[in-house]
Amino acid sequence: MKITEYINTLRENVAVAREQGKTVVLIPTMGFLHSGHLSMVEAVRKQDEDYEKFYIVMSIFVNPLQFGPNEDYDRYPRNLVRDTRLAQEAGVDLLFTPSVQEMYPDGPSLTRVNVAKVTDDLCGSHRPGHFEGVATVVSKLFNIVLPDFAYFGQKDYQQYVVIKQMVKDLNIPVQVLLAPTVREEDGLAMSSRNAYLRPEERRQAPVLYRSLQEAAQLIAGGERDVNVVREKIRQRITNETNGKIEYIEIRRADNLAKIERISGAVVIALAVYFGSTRLIDNILVEV
Ligand code: PAJ
Repeated sequence: MKITEYINTLRENVAVAREQGKTVVLIPTMGFLHSGHLSMVEAVRKQDEDYEKFYIVMSIFVNPLQFGPNEDYDRYPRNLVRDTRLAQEAGVDLLFTPSVQEMYPDGPSLTRVNVAKVTDDLCGSHRPGHFEGVATVVSKLFNIVLPDFAYFGQKDYQQYVVIKQMVKDLNIPVQVLLAPTVREEDGLAMSSRNAYLRPEERRQAPVLYRSLQEAAQLIAGGERDVNVVREKIRQRITNETNGKIEYIEIRRADNLAKIERISGAVVIALAVYFGSTRLIDNILVEV
């Protein structure tokens, strides 16, 4: 595995891989790698028997542009030594670890990518500027790496929808793929932020996924009223945890539009605070 913090070096290496006829895959991350991140490397392997035909680029960059002023940019967990080992073991070909200076040499980027509508609510309304920061850095990464494919995790489902919309609207020649959420044994979605949880919060956190599963069962049993299902989730979380609910929403899966009755492909998404730690989770349901 090669590792570089420089855009020029990255481009040289990607160019060589291209000359060799390889398909370039990008997996953008903010590091502190866990099985959720690494499962995307595994997913590339599953795309084709001939694993050698892929050139897998993983980026690790804690992007200041996507953190609000009162968010956890400064204390976001970082461990590049461990990440390097994990990326290498997983089969990454090139690890890109730029500095803030390398990505934003003139200070915070003057050009921003703003995806309207699909960023209006859910995480968008509670984290102003967040998706602008995400869309801006991801479009930079796309332009730096020029990948054929890029992977995003279902855990951040709204982020995936935002990136899909951006790629469509701006005709960026990248195929955006969704990787399933990887969970701890007790159902908690893996997240770098789980490291913040106190033992009691960690014990309660799996209720989020259980409440989503219960909602899916309710729907499978014939319930179609969005508010009934949301209320069921809310009750379970408030009865069984000290978590503070930020939102529980059921939306059309393709464009996150509001619905009153459940039909077609929907996403059930929630955000809940455990102490000062904000956790998100979602499931996709098709009726
Ligand atoms: P980060 O939170 O590090 O996540 C990097 C990628 O891993 C995202 O696509 C995310 O959805 C995926 N991921 C995280 N946890 C996962 C899990 N438990 N199962 C499956 N996939 C998971 O998301 C970001 O970083 C940033 O916003 C980024 C896209 C890198 C832009 O800065």
